[in-house]
Amino acid sequence: MEKKILVAGGLGYIGSHTCVQLREAGYHPVIVDNLSNSEVSVLDGLEKIIGERLPFYEADCQDKEALIGICKKEPGIVGIINFAAYKAVGESVEKPLSYYRNNLNVLISLLEVAEECRMKAFVFSSSCTVYGEAEIQPVTEETPILPATSPYGNTKQIAEEIITDAIHAGMPFKAILLRYFNPIGAHPSAMIGELPRGVPQNLLPYVCQTAAGIRKELKIFGNDYDTPDGTCIRDYIDINDLANAHVKAIDRMLEVKEAPNVEAFNIGTGRGVSVLEIVKTFEKVNGLTLPYSFAPRREGDIEKIWADPKKALNVLGWKATRSLDDTLKSTWKWQMRLQEK
Ligand SMILES: NC(=O)c1ccc[n+]([C@@H]2O[C@H](COP(=O)([O-])OP(=O)(O)OC[C@H]3O[C@@H](n4cnc5c(N)ncnc54)[C@H](O)[C@@H]3O)[C@@H](O)[C@H]2O)c1
Repeated sequence: MEKKILVAGGLGYIGSHTCVQLREAGYHPVIVDNLSNSEVSVLDGLEKIIGERLPFYEADCQDKEALIGICKKEPGIVGIINFAAYKAVGESVEKPLSYYRNNLNVLISLLEVAEECRMKAFVFSSSCTVYGEAEIQPVTEETPILPATSPYGNTKQIAEEIITDAIHAGMPFKAILLRYFNPIGAHPSAMIGELPRGVPQNLLPYVCQTAAGIRKELKIFGNDYDTPDGTCIRDYIDINDLANAHVKAIDRMLEVKEAPNVEAFNIGTGRGVSVLEIVKTFEKVNGLTLPYSFAPRREGDIEKIWADPKKALNVLGWKATRSLDDTLKSTWKWQMRLQEK
């Protein structure tokens, strides 16, 4: 029988790229999304890449009964990937209850559905924000989890605890927590990519919109950090590499009986890159000049963080393969396609 995977939030940025990788690996994604931060046209882009229309159900993933109905209509779902969440850090400070309600209710509903529908695998989209401002870089999965600095970050920490408690209490499936670093880029075909709404909060969408003339100037927050060029350092991971980690996680839970019931993995490149390096590389590979200036530090930004991704390599057989140059080219190609729309 076909192995189907329920992809909650599958029309979003990371979910859509993961659907491509799942299908290429022989899985059949079943997408559920309430379109709160995505568009149904993403299905057209996916169809152009994959060559088939993926099944899509418009539903709120908090709604357990709706999810069970979908599982009945789609026999053969063996696992769930939970991308469905609100993700804007700043907004979460202004609307904490909305973030706790959506992100935690979705998680609990999906865990209950995984149990009731006898699934075998559950992947959760976690984040390197759980490590906060870690003293030692790179961070490993053993690096202590620090108190969250925003309601959004707190939803990730609480979610990890909820999943761990549920698994320890005997849930009949395995779970993997993927702690993403900073996903950037787009599918090389430029048929899917990130769709920022309003003023982008992340660096790359802002860089692209500035290069495209939509924004006047990029503001780099802080050039007096204790880093080689004074700007913040992050671990930027290509979205296609990140998507592939989900396939490896599902493979492991379905195929490796002796694997622990719950595991966490860092999904990053292992290389810290500064904001200024991103800007310079973006300019170089795309032959552009980007207007930018330095602004004071932004509250809540940590100075530096990058991953030690060895566990993902040793256990999942996963590592980042795309170069930063290629990723930044794909980012700009996607922006140009967005302009044509
Ligand atoms: N993008 C990042 O930088 C990043 C970093 C670390 C972790 N994450 C996590 O990865 C996941 C996916 O992130 P993304 O960047 O693809 O975000 P996204 O907003 O592009 O995708 C999330 C999708 O979930 C949907 N959704 C939200 N609430 C829902 C609900 N109640 N029911 C059904 N659908 C719902 C949205 O419509 C959207 O399509 C999120 O959990 C996010 O917190 C993202």
